[in-house]
Amino acid sequence: MALSETRDTIVLSLGFPALERVPHAMMREAITEVVAASGPAAFFYAPSEGLSTFRDALAGLMSTRGASLSADEILVTSGSHQALDLVARLFLEPGDTVVVESPTYLGALQLFRAARARVVSVALDEQGMRTDHLEAALTRCSPKFIYTLPTFQNPAGRLMSLERRQRLLDLAYRFRVPVVEDDIYSDLWYGQPPPPSLKALDPHGYVLHLGSFSKILAPGLRVGWIAAARPILRRLVQVKQISDLQAPTLGQMVVERLVRTRRFVEHAAAARREYARRRDAMAQALERHARPWAEWSVPEGGFYVWCRIAAPVSATTLAAEAAERGVSVLPGSVCLAQDVTDTYVRLSFSFAPARDIEEGIERLAKAVRRAAGRARPGVGPVDSTRPMV
Ligand SMILES: Cc1ncc(COP(=O)(O)O)c(C=O)c1O
Repeated sequence: MALSETRDTIVLSLGFPALERVPHAMMREAITEVVAASGPAAFFYAPSEGLSTFRDALAGLMSTRGASLSADEILVTSGSHQALDLVARLFLEPGDTVVVESPTYLGALQLFRAARARVVSVALDEQGMRTDHLEAALTRCSPKFIYTLPTFQNPAGRLMSLERRQRLLDLAYRFRVPVVEDDIYSDLWYGQPPPPSLKALDPHGYVLHLGSFSKILAPGLRVGWIAAARPILRRLVQVKQISDLQAPTLGQMVVERLVRTRRFVEHAAAARREYARRRDAMAQALERHARPWAEWSVPEGGFYVWCRIAAPVSATTLAAEAAERGVSVLPGSVCLAQDVTDTYVRLSFSFAPARDIEEGIERLAKAVRRAAGRARPGVGPVDSTRPMV
């Protein structure tokens, strides 16, 4: 969905950050500084692995989060989506297996399907990926990697406990399977900071860690990264080179300036306060309008509420009905590797201002009442061009 298409709709479907939270004045200032300091180099080619000073800054950022690594274990990518694409290109041949959570990031499913991989899903509970189910899956199949979102999962909002993280790593070591940790929401916590990343807990180099500035800073910058053990990283750099040579130079320089000063940290704190307000607005609106027909839990971070529709209407039908009433929600079935259930919607509280969220949930409640009056469960139109984020 383009920004221009969101005007007359209350958007609860997209994983976009808030447009008003993009710190454009701070960016303008940083761009001016970068151009003054670097001149034409700001617009020139950079190494495929990323600018060495920026990789240093990223290593520093990760060390503040408990993962001690050096610049040569980091590859700068054009967003974390490309990071995942590079991983898929390096690891997957048609027919290979990859283990994911159920539900999981829609864009990952699309990438793995494009690689013609077999996707095996493992259920989540309140503590994240069910490691007992993971163990059973690893016993049955030999995946090329496990793809997990332990911190404020997209779409289910779950936070994997420290114990689960340890258990997941133990299984990865025992079955000798790499773990791809998609960690792009970890700055967005609204109570306590999350437990250490899988990368920080992994002394053996099994974890490939994906990071991004898209949600916390600005998605159009297209600046993300992969942190991985050196032998894997070197191969990823080759894939990156073949794919698009390098991530944008100006974006790397701008983000480096913000990360090296207090500006990024201060911006992140302000962003957390705003998204916490929006999360609370959604939680209150759901309490007021959705109790009879929905079940959900309030996430401690990230952008999403995963909501089970306990009314006789499929999520896909509900989404279509809601769209007619001027509110967009994402039917959860698109986040499932096996399209077996159509009873969840993903509600995002990041893009719509807090004042619109209540109205959006009220409209959704009306849509439920109307759709439940006439639709049968499990039936509904399928739109093949749904957004990826
Ligand atoms: C879990 C997850 N991974 C990756 C991405 C891609 O983000 P980007 O490429 O902008 O860093 C998204 C976007 O919504 C996401 O939710």
